Amino acid sequence: MKKLLDLLTIKAGEAFEKAGYDAQLGKVTVSNRPDLCEYQCNGAMAGAKQYHKAPIMIANEVAEELRKLSVFSEVDAVAPGFLNLKLSEEYLADYVSEMKESEKFGFVPSFGSEKVVIDYGGANVAKALHVGHIRSANIGESVKRILRFAGDEVIGDAHLGDWGLQMGLVICGIKERKPDLVYFDENYTGDYSDAPSVSIKELEEIYPESSARSKEDPEYKAKAMDATKRLQDGERGYRALWKKMMDTSISDLKKNYGSLNVDFDLWNGESSVHDLIPEMVDYMKKGGWAHISEGALVVDVAEETDTKTIPPCMILKSDGASLYNTTDLATIMQRVRDFDPDRIVYIVDKRQELYFEQVFRCARKTELVKPETKLNFIGFGTMNGADGKPFKTRDGGVMRLESLIEETKSEMLKKIKEGRPVSDEEAAQIADIVAISALKYGDLSNQASKDYVFDIDRFTSFEGDTGPYILYTIVRIKSILAKYAESGKNAADAKIGPAKNEFEKALCMEIAQFGQVMDSAASELAPHKICGYIYDVANAFNKFYHETQILSEADEARRENLIALLVLTRDILSTCIDLLGFEAPERM
Ligand code: ARG
Repeated sequence: MKKLLDLLTIKAGEAFEKAGYDAQLGKVTVSNRPDLCEYQCNGAMAGAKQYHKAPIMIANEVAEELRKLSVFSEVDAVAPGFLNLKLSEEYLADYVSEMKESEKFGFVPSFGSEKVVIDYGGANVAKALHVGHIRSANIGESVKRILRFAGDEVIGDAHLGDWGLQMGLVICGIKERKPDLVYFDENYTGDYSDAPSVSIKELEEIYPESSARSKEDPEYKAKAMDATKRLQDGERGYRALWKKMMDTSISDLKKNYGSLNVDFDLWNGESSVHDLIPEMVDYMKKGGWAHISEGALVVDVAEETDTKTIPPCMILKSDGASLYNTTDLATIMQRVRDFDPDRIVYIVDKRQELYFEQVFRCARKTELVKPETKLNFIGFGTMNGADGKPFKTRDGGVMRLESLIEETKSEMLKKIKEGRPVSDEEAAQIADIVAISALKYGDLSNQASKDYVFDIDRFTSFEGDTGPYILYTIVRIKSILAKYAESGKNAADAKIGPAKNEFEKALCMEIAQFGQVMDSAASELAPHKICGYIYDVANAFNKFYHETQILSEADEARRENLIALLVLTRDILSTCIDLLGFEAPERM
């Protein structure tokens, strides 16, 4: 389907043409004076010069043509030459009825489809998922779903941090605790399948301990660096231990990401490209791009037009070890080989922006990607606490994602029990679902690049711009529809009728924005646009609901029209929350 605004522009263009003017003048926009009209067209003013005519004269002639159409219920030409327009209820009803019958509610993207790799999640193996990882997971998952909805082929990759110094630190920590483990026996030649594993609890204790110690104890740090190198160089025992840690960690990550409805097509990590690195380094040297500087291998990425210094991109450290950059570049090489994507999107903390600028420049300069391949960095801001500083636990520690989810669930449970009498079991089930909406909507409704304050009380409220409010609205619609179905009636094929009051019209007008909103959410990779849209739709619905008899409407045909509008509203809201990555319960 065409977007409503585009349709109106076409109609207005035709009217200009019929009146003897250029059709290009018929651009219709949403009114900036909603008290006067819904839409406006300023083409008569623009055409005045060209046609040596007073704008109001042109406006009057065009208005006459527009009045002949069934599109507008009101057309006013007002001084000095504006056209003020109100949409006809019939035209709007036909438009939303067609949305109801169309696949994806008639959404047709204004851009072609692409093959996209999304790099998000970015969890570090052996470290617990903490609140710093929630935004990448939420935003990435939603962007993935939005692009798929828009017709792209999308591959989501977790890009785990599983290969750096943190692994060496954990290995050292384990060795300190349990030096007798078979992994550390250099003479052992057997297999490790029965060797003891490491629990997630141990990993979570060992990493912070070991990391803190390495900062104070240079000798220990050297050991950790050596362990990292030995792991990367393929020492059997270290690799076997690493594999056990990976298994433990990935199953824990799957559980945690799963509770946020986040799921990856690829669980690759930095380690996945280890074997590609020598080839890539060779290629960069042969191409004349990489050179030695102060012992390290670097590619210069500064450009003449830079206004700030962009340091060279380091490919290998002076001891030959690879770095974060190295694995990211090799990952680009691997993704190009495996998928030949049109675009790679990274959803990472905005503090890594300069880093990604270096990596992208390096990838382009060294022709790891085709010139037309897009590399996008979506940097997100920090989730802060009430004090405006990065969110912490009450005693100032890093908050584990699991704890954050648990806390939100118990707050939600409290509110649900306050609301109405409900069994403990049902309340807990509902709270689990609604809490995820609170967390996700609270995050996604902010433009990604902005910081926001995690306010558990506000996020879990059933009122205001929150996930629970959206779910509450959906559940309300579902319950009216259930009552209607109980009466034995079926309005499955009913059309939406012309609005009979301003609230009903306002709801239809909000709903009709769907195509436009999806188009900008997908092209700008901006889930917050969908949040804004569903908040407006939910508000419009709730006003309409208070002002309109639905089930008690006596006129059966009218009642069916209203039910059809409810069905469309429910379906639109449900689709949108699915694109944001959460769902609604049956009851609340
Ligand atoms: N593991 C990284 C971190 O915790 C994030 C990874 C982001 N993605 C990437 N391709 N570098 O900071």
